Amino acid sequence: MTRLAIALAAVVAIALGKPAQADEPIIIKFSHVVAPDAPKGKAANFFKEQAEKYTNGKVKVEVYPNSSLYKDKEELEALQLGSVQLLAPSISKFGPLGVKEFDIFDLPFLISNDAHARQMTASPEMSELNQKLETKGVSPLAYWDNGATVYTANRALIWPDDFRGLKMRIQGGKVYDAIARELGAFPQILPFSEVYQALQTGVVDGEDNVPSNILTQKFYEVQRHLTVSLHGRITYALITNKTFWASLPADVREALDRAVKETTDFFNATAQKDNADALNKIGASGKTEMHVLSEAERKAWIAKLMPVHAEMQGRFGREFIERIYKASGFTPPQS
Ligand code: LMR
Repeated sequence: MTRLAIALAAVVAIALGKPAQADEPIIIKFSHVVAPDAPKGKAANFFKEQAEKYTNGKVKVEVYPNSSLYKDKEELEALQLGSVQLLAPSISKFGPLGVKEFDIFDLPFLISNDAHARQMTASPEMSELNQKLETKGVSPLAYWDNGATVYTANRALIWPDDFRGLKMRIQGGKVYDAIARELGAFPQILPFSEVYQALQTGVVDGEDNVPSNILTQKFYEVQRHLTVSLHGRITYALITNKTFWASLPADVREALDRAVKETTDFFNATAQKDNADALNKIGASGKTEMHVLSEAERKAWIAKLMPVHAEMQGRFGREFIERIYKASGFTPPQS
């Protein structure tokens, strides 16, 4: 650049309120709703370290935990508007984006183990859904499997009938809604940030979640019972604003892709360990009575909830449900 060009650039930069240096870092705001010591919180911090290291400081990642920047629904809107660049929401919350198909993964007892969860997120069906997200201005960078969910309540939940009349917090989505209704409970959608207080004050009687969230949000301190039901999963999609990601210089994007890949491995290993540790800690706390479903109880839950699969054929189409069964290794029980 000539001296004149440099001087002009400086004048323009000052007029725009920015410093003249071209080496200002690119800021990535990463907002999430869980505690910093939950698996997603740890992964967000890990990503920050890797991203800043691999881009040699060209990128600065600001992590906002515990809904301190945005709550569940707001964060998706903020991403589409470009006010935040990275999120990792549970895919059960994608309905408001206009991609209702993601609810399908909430079908009860669909995914029975970690290997099946990974197989599902790597499937061609998931790539189809990724395309749908792209049309909404959202680019999925990775899926993080946070493991199987358990129920908590102020009543012991042993048999399906035990849910009758309970107000249950759900994350959102038509499948979660149908599950609660099938069980004779009353579903209530609440943002994650409001769940502790709702449980404490009796606005709702129970909820379902991964053990690491129940521990780090202290839900177990205000719930007398926990049932190890393993009826669902929490899967996160690490998502970015499509236009923002496409605008990154190629070398920066490559470095960030590397950080994403390493963070995904870190997340999956952390989630598995943290969920096991959380169950032990909750059990040891003596505040919550823990029950592991017996084989007979589990069969009764599955039998009670299979009608939700049938009901959802109308929403997702039989053919798509069957492809998802195959992708996630699910075999419907013989009736
Ligand atoms: C919930 O809302 O219960 C979870 O999706 C929160 C989370 O992000 O793990």
